[in-house]
Amino acid sequence: MTILLETERMLLREFTTEDSQLLFELNNDPEVMFYINAGQPVPMAEIVEETLPAFLAYYRDGDRFGFWAANEKATGTFLGWFHLHRGERSTDPELGYRLHRAAWNRGLATEGCAALIERAFQDPTISRIYAETMVVHTASRRVMEKVGMRFVRIFHADWPFRIPGDEHGDVEYEITRAEWGNR
Ligand SMILES: CC(C)(COP(=O)(O)OP(=O)(O)OC[C@H]1O[C@@H](n2cnc3c(N)ncnc32)[C@H](O)[C@@H]1OP(=O)(O)O)[C@@H](O)C(=O)NCCC(=O)NCCS
Repeated sequence: MTILLETERMLLREFTTEDSQLLFELNNDPEVMFYINAGQPVPMAEIVEETLPAFLAYYRDGDRFGFWAANEKATGTFLGWFHLHRGERSTDPELGYRLHRAAWNRGLATEGCAALIERAFQDPTISRIYAETMVVHTASRRVMEKVGMRFVRIFHADWPFRIPGDEHGDVEYEITRAEWGNR
């Protein structure tokens, strides 16, 4: 198991080809996927042929950017994942997260994000990290706020799925190296 980071309660490790079933289960919980694909089922073929290969491709370019599986230290349970990678709308790295329902509201997303931000800013070429979510996704926005990110703007991304509240658009949050150092 290749570990990227250890936090108080989690190991963040590289995904492997053995993880397709774990990702299938995560991506087929309609509550987990509500703000991502409106809770539509995701076929195993998509996980095996698209999702997992895209995750694994990052490791060939080193360990700065990518997707990391989160395992609970105490139990070994797969909790979900975190990502930090070049985003669609910026050359700066974008932070993201997806956790199983059983892991919610225990501060785990905030804990993982803080560890990834701390590590990212050890790289002198990274001066800003940003994150995006829907305006109405309160839990995700709260994680961004709790980890010290600052609201930047509302914008309207072109999503293929419609969910209640999506007319309010999306939000961007960011944190700079200086803000992280001064928090
Ligand atoms: C978003 C997500 C990662 C948050 O993970 P988490 O580990 O529960 O986050 P934390 O426990 O660190 O913080 C969650 C905060 O949101 C709050 N919260 C959770 N649900 C809420 C809701 N429906 N309304 C208002 N606040 C809510 C919690 O109370 C907590 O804030 P607090 O510490 O001030 O009380 C998790 O809900 C998830 O994986 N959702 C599905 C995938 C997803 O939507 N990913 C983000 C896509 S942008």
